[in-house]
Amino acid sequence: MAEAAAHPIPVIAIDGPGAAGKGTICNRVASALGWTLLDSGALYRLVGLAALRKGVEPEDATALAELARGLDIEFLAGDEVVVLLDGQDVSREIRTEHAGLVASKVAAQSAVRSALIERQREFRRPPGLVADGRDMGSVVFPSSALKIFLTANVTERAQRRYKQLKDKGIDVSLSALSKDMVDRDRQDTDRSVAPLITCADARILDTTSMSIEEVVCKVLEWAKEVYPQGCA
Ligand code: DC
Repeated sequence: MAEAAAHPIPVIAIDGPGAAGKGTICNRVASALGWTLLDSGALYRLVGLAALRKGVEPEDATALAELARGLDIEFLAGDEVVVLLDGQDVSREIRTEHAGLVASKVAAQSAVRSALIERQREFRRPPGLVADGRDMGSVVFPSSALKIFLTANVTERAQRRYKQLKDKGIDVSLSALSKDMVDRDRQDTDRSVAPLITCADARILDTTSMSIEEVVCKVLEWAKEVYPQGCA
């Protein structure tokens, strides 16, 4: 289960609360560098969705872990990543707030996390990996030389998520969204396994008043400083 300490393939581990902009930033940084992208949140969302479809309770750790191990999923790269579950496009379905809350519940089960850990590490392919999640730096890739904790205040995050969902044609209320966000932050931070924490060796980036371009530039600047060979 332990990660190889001196791994030759560089990883940028980007953790932080929901709607801090990690998805967009990781996508842009990965394509600028030509590296692989791991959206670990999508894996938990897929386990949650598979559980809903198969009638598995979010508290049934054994059944959830089995689902997680056997998950038939595929990520099709592009401007917007297409996510397939059992060959069916579920990209929109996994992005709803409800799917996020279910994901957060199943993600609190240690058996589910263990079932997904090796699957996440398989994304570490040359020339490098940009990993987006809650425990990328603390648990999945602790040897990463570049760990970033990306955050923004809750009002800003709720507004960003609101806009993102509206743009996708998903109808939501801003106040319900803020409440869900606070609940989910609490669930992710208070859980006993792999909680959302700021690693002691992480660089903190508060993006509240930064544009996407500014954040991408900052992350690329750090990537070039830490991995000069991999970012040439
Ligand atoms: O990043 P996201 O909103 O897509 O993640 C959905 C949920 O999955 C989030 O509430 C917490 C959980 N998650 C996790 O526990 N560990 C990760 N590495 C990524 C996501």
